[in-house]
Amino acid sequence: MLSKKLQDALNEQIKNELYSGYLYLAMSAYFEANNLPGFAHWMRVQAAEEQDHALKFFDFIVDRGGRVVLQAIDQPPVEFSSPLAVFETTLQHEQKVTGLINALYELAVAENDYPAQVMLQWFINEQVEEEKNATQIVETLKMIGEKGQALIMLDRELGQRGKE
Ligand SMILES: [Fe+2]
Ligand SMILES: [Fe+2]
Repeated sequence: MLSKKLQDALNEQIKNELYSGYLYLAMSAYFEANNLPGFAHWMRVQAAEEQDHALKFFDFIVDRGGRVVLQAIDQPPVEFSSPLAVFETTLQHEQKVTGLINALYELAVAENDYPAQVMLQWFINEQVEEEKNATQIVETLKMIGEKGQALIMLDRELGQRGKE
């Protein structure tokens, strides 16, 4: 049985994952409005992934006999100053999420909840991936600058996400 403390924290994380999805969908809308359909596609796939993360927590709470309680989700930003600014924001956001996942793991250890520890290990690995992906795109954008043919080529490449 889930402790009340852990259940509350996992419900909070459902909201955090849905906010991540909302943030990436807002970024997708920004890219659509700025004629970068490949970047927009990449962010849309990322938003769907965050939805899946929320559902993993949802299912875990249900499987453990707990009660899912959905919370209000904040409005994400509308405008961003550049594609680089978007991915810098993404990286900072994922670093914050990594901290939240680590705190959940620490709570699962403190509560002696072994299934929660196993479930959270998946997220610990996932955060390594998320930070790596965001860092790679930040570094590429810094290298190519934000205008011209290289940006268009990166847009095409990011448009291939999930299509290989
Ligand atoms: Fe996530
Ligand atoms: Fe991911």
